[in-house]
Amino acid sequence: MPEFNLSGNNMEAFEKICCLENLNERQGKRFIIDDIEIAVFKVDGEVFALNNVCPHQHTTVIYDGYIVNGCVVCPVHGWMFNLKTGKMPSCNAGLDSYQVKIIDNQVHIKITKKELKW
Ligand code: FES
Repeated sequence: MPEFNLSGNNMEAFEKICCLENLNERQGKRFIIDDIEIAVFKVDGEVFALNNVCPHQHTTVIYDGYIVNGCVVCPVHGWMFNLKTGKMPSCNAGLDSYQVKIIDNQVHIKITKKELKW
């Protein structure tokens, strides 16, 4: 369910997904919001949200990837995606990334339908 008027400033578009404590450091978690697969990571206390569907074989495995140098590495064939932007280090393509806000220890994500071209 969407959250409304949490603290002003356009919070209508953000959805609460979990408590911050429900995320383990450097261990991804999978969420499905409005039929969109989301992979959420907490790295050094910062939370990142990316689309969970690896564009290589369209598998929902990104949440199970491991973290290296600010990127998540797909566990299937090793494609890397920047945690902040979703982009691959070597090109402009990659995964959709989503804005994250932490309010009162609750993780909120702004779902947008932008799509990167392949
Ligand atoms: S399925 Fe992700 S790199 Fe192949």
